[in-house]
Amino acid sequence: MKLHLQHIFTSICVALVAGHAVGDDNLSCKDWERQALLKIKQGLIDDYSHLSSWGNAEDKKNCCKWRGVSCSNQTGHVTSLDLRGTCTPFDTSYLPLRGNISSSLLELKHLNYLDLSCNDFGRNRVPEFIGSLVDLRYLNLTYAGYVGTVPDQLGNLTNLQYLDLRSNYHLDAKSLEWLSHLSLLRYLDLSEMDLSKATDWLQAIFKLPLLIELHLSSCQLVPPPLLLPLTNSTLKSLAVIDLSANYLTSSSLYYWLFNISSTLVKVELSVNNLQGPIPGDFGNMKFLQYLGLGANIFEGGVPNPFGNLSRLQYLDLSLNELNQDLPTIVRNLSGPVQKSLVYLDFGWNRKITGLLPDVTGFSSLRFLNLRDNKLSGSIPKSYGQLPVLFALDLGWNQIEGPVPDFTSSLSLKELYLQGNKLNGTSLGTSIAGLSSLLVLDVSTNSLDGVVSEADMSKLSRLLYLDLSSNSLSLEFSSEWVPPFQLDVIRLGGCKLQSHFPRWLQTQTNVSMIDISHAGILDTIPDWFWDHSHRIEHLNLSHNQIYGILPDLSSKFSEVFASIYLGFNNFSGPIPLFPSNLTALDLSKNSFSGPVSFLCNPTPFLTYLDLSDNLLSGELPDCWKSFGKLSILNMGNNNLSGKVPISMGSLSAVETIHLRNNHLVGKLPKSLKNCTKLTFIDLGQNRLTGKIPAWIGNKLSDLVFLSLSSNEFYGNIPLNICRLARMQILDLSLNNISGNIPECLGNFTAMASEESSSLTITHSFDSYFYPYFDTALLVWKGREFEYKNTLGLVKSIDLSSNKLVGEIPFTLPSLAGLVALNLSRNNLSGLISPNMGRLGSLNFLDLSRNGLSGGIPIALSQLSHLGVLDLSYNFLSGRIPESNHLLTFEASSFAGNAGLCGRPLPRSCPGDDVPGGGDNTGNHDGEDKLIDTGFYVSLGVGIIVGFWGFCGSLILSSSWRYAFFKPVNSIEDWLYVRIATTWARLWR
Ligand SMILES: *[C@@H]1O[C@H](CO)[C@@H](O)[C@H](O)[C@H]1NC(C)=O
Ligand SMILES: *[C@@H]1O[C@H](CO)[C@@H](O)[C@H](O)[C@H]1NC(C)=O
Repeated sequence: MKLHLQHIFTSICVALVAGHAVGDDNLSCKDWERQALLKIKQGLIDDYSHLSSWGNAEDKKNCCKWRGVSCSNQTGHVTSLDLRGTCTPFDTSYLPLRGNISSSLLELKHLNYLDLSCNDFGRNRVPEFIGSLVDLRYLNLTYAGYVGTVPDQLGNLTNLQYLDLRSNYHLDAKSLEWLSHLSLLRYLDLSEMDLSKATDWLQAIFKLPLLIELHLSSCQLVPPPLLLPLTNSTLKSLAVIDLSANYLTSSSLYYWLFNISSTLVKVELSVNNLQGPIPGDFGNMKFLQYLGLGANIFEGGVPNPFGNLSRLQYLDLSLNELNQDLPTIVRNLSGPVQKSLVYLDFGWNRKITGLLPDVTGFSSLRFLNLRDNKLSGSIPKSYGQLPVLFALDLGWNQIEGPVPDFTSSLSLKELYLQGNKLNGTSLGTSIAGLSSLLVLDVSTNSLDGVVSEADMSKLSRLLYLDLSSNSLSLEFSSEWVPPFQLDVIRLGGCKLQSHFPRWLQTQTNVSMIDISHAGILDTIPDWFWDHSHRIEHLNLSHNQIYGILPDLSSKFSEVFASIYLGFNNFSGPIPLFPSNLTALDLSKNSFSGPVSFLCNPTPFLTYLDLSDNLLSGELPDCWKSFGKLSILNMGNNNLSGKVPISMGSLSAVETIHLRNNHLVGKLPKSLKNCTKLTFIDLGQNRLTGKIPAWIGNKLSDLVFLSLSSNEFYGNIPLNICRLARMQILDLSLNNISGNIPECLGNFTAMASEESSSLTITHSFDSYFYPYFDTALLVWKGREFEYKNTLGLVKSIDLSSNKLVGEIPFTLPSLAGLVALNLSRNNLSGLISPNMGRLGSLNFLDLSRNGLSGGIPIALSQLSHLGVLDLSYNFLSGRIPESNHLLTFEASSFAGNAGLCGRPLPRSCPGDDVPGGGDNTGNHDGEDKLIDTGFYVSLGVGIIVGFWGFCGSLILSSSWRYAFFKPVNSIEDWLYVRIATTWARLWR
């Protein structure tokens, strides 16, 4: 978006007349000035020979002719020194000088123009002696690598008219008192200088009566402590003010801004803390051409006076909390401003409502952004008829209906309609004429119908095509040669014609391809890999692609490669991949053989999913080069051998998933170095040894730990109770003995009835498809896969071990616990009435232990309880006659010789014999119980899932951020992509 801004508004910048003087042949330069310049040259490192014309040789004597030097045509004195380098990294026309500026500069007593911008005076302080060059009218030290505090001596430069210190990122000022002496200053730019301590910044600025341009962007400005008195001359000439990216508030700004506003042409206040309604006073700034108010906290809508801003071209109100309806906003902009507006941005307000209004009157509009709001209705025809429209973004609203006919929008370069409810079959014809189009994104709608070759035949400039997540069918013949060369191809979920698309053979510049869920039933042709030299992202997952992959080590882009081939029918061995691999997903295929390819270093790999294949052999011991790996999933294979020691080098790993293999031996101690782990699933192997104490000592972020179905023995180490974030602990089906530690009550996350997130979240950033940890949880003998709501499950499963002693009295403090399974141990003692405090419990299984005593009536208060199994203990007495407990089958209580009363068929002494209609329970036995468990646990999933997805999204925006974060990261990547592409095109 910045690019638009530059492109369209460079003309707004106030032209600067720099005081250059012209060299004269007759007036050769002064000897001492030449010597001074040569000393300056000595202090500089001139890697690119910019100063080759500077020398003592006879033919070079006239220093007024040296590059960057100008002299007065009257006196012959050096008046101007211009050593400006290039600021844009891609432009190599004047690469920087390095080194330091010598104090010999002071010999140039008549210097009035000094430009050292865009060089690399690496980490030096701004020299104090510059303050002695009192004739200076122009000083430019932009982007010169200066650090430290700006010297007060600059305050001696009382003739200065232009002062530009922008983009010296480690420069600061404790006070701007020195600035107030520069009373002739017309142009001031201190952007990116840390002024957080300079609370007198406004005081100093007020003393500059001639100031025309003021730039203090990203200066960490805080509101000034005092309301300063305004005079008739305060900032009376100011035309441009940029205070963006600071901490300014409404009250600290408006009282003076609207008093000096009559001359303002450009006002940039984005990224501050401005709140409340947008003040109508902006509407009185009659010369205003540019108003940037994005990323503040404004509410309401656009005030009516804005309609009179007859010169306003640029209006940015994105990323606020505006909640007016769009028809009213557009009505308030219906005055003269309508004709002048070129750039209009209301994106990411999230709350702007209403139907899309007619926009015919906005005849100069080139950029219109309404993304991520609550707009509804269909897209009126007028959006396709704006004569000079360049970019239209209506993405992420609730817009319905067909894509209108854009065939007359010949200037349209970017069209974003994704994330709406658009439907209809007309997409193909609506876009067919867009010969300027670079970007088309209609993903995540309900479009169907056919997109044909003919629809695409004019889109010769297209670079970015996203049709994914619709029901579109693409009918392109196998001989089709498209008119475009795409950079990004996203066709996930489109219906292709089961063959691997042949036309891709003509696309040799692609950096991203997503053709997942596309019904491809074919092999990948060899030519595809030959064209892969620019591919950074490849997603062919969820098809039925088969065949054996070739050696891919020399394929893909040099930048990086993320490869998603999961959920297909690939077979054969896993091939070699390039060393710049960042993500690899081969899950749910039939890859077989060893995983030795891992021993080829891939130091940038963050994500590796090889789960659900037929991989065999030992896990190789070569994990040392995986310093960035965050997610490791090799579950459900036939891997054998020990967990290798070098896995301890996975210092960034957050998930280790090795469930259901044939791993043996003890866990290596080195794993204690993997301190970022949140998720460990080693279930269903043949691992042995004691449960290591370091799990509790070192892995303090652990949320999920499953060691179930192994051969672990010994006591549960007390240290495990330190895992305050633990939500799911599964140690079932081992040989663990001893007591259940009392300290399990310390699991803070389980004690809370709230969850911080739907899924188990991760911090790693370079993934392009959201990854959710998946876990199998056993509800009453059946396994359920949890994924999208795993973060909400809190459970402890210690079943089928050799645990003895009583149920710890601290357990009931885990009020958030959803499932507790202690069955099939040797536990004894009573069931405490305190168990009634486990208010979230859905599942309680204490069966097949030695528990005795009565069933506490408090258990009947567990209103969420869907599965209860107390069978095969030594419980006695009457089953409490509560409605809730009566809903359980008799089998929940079976095998307790001393229990009586409903639902058991055995009546208690003194009761009537239960009637025929009441004892249906025991007919169905175990089967029925399993069904109940199945039903209830499914119900938990659905209810929890619904609440999680719908309820919380509406309630809290921070949830939304957390939830959509993965999506955002790919969008960010795509934005960068588009921006660099534009840059290329406009060069
Ligand atoms: C000196 O140069 C200035 C600026 O180019 C010009 O306006 C002026 O006429 C010149 N004076 C002489 C004496 O050449
Ligand atoms: C200072 O130099 C930079 C970079 O060369 C340039 O973009 C900027 O416009 C200059 N400032 C002034 C006031 O001329």
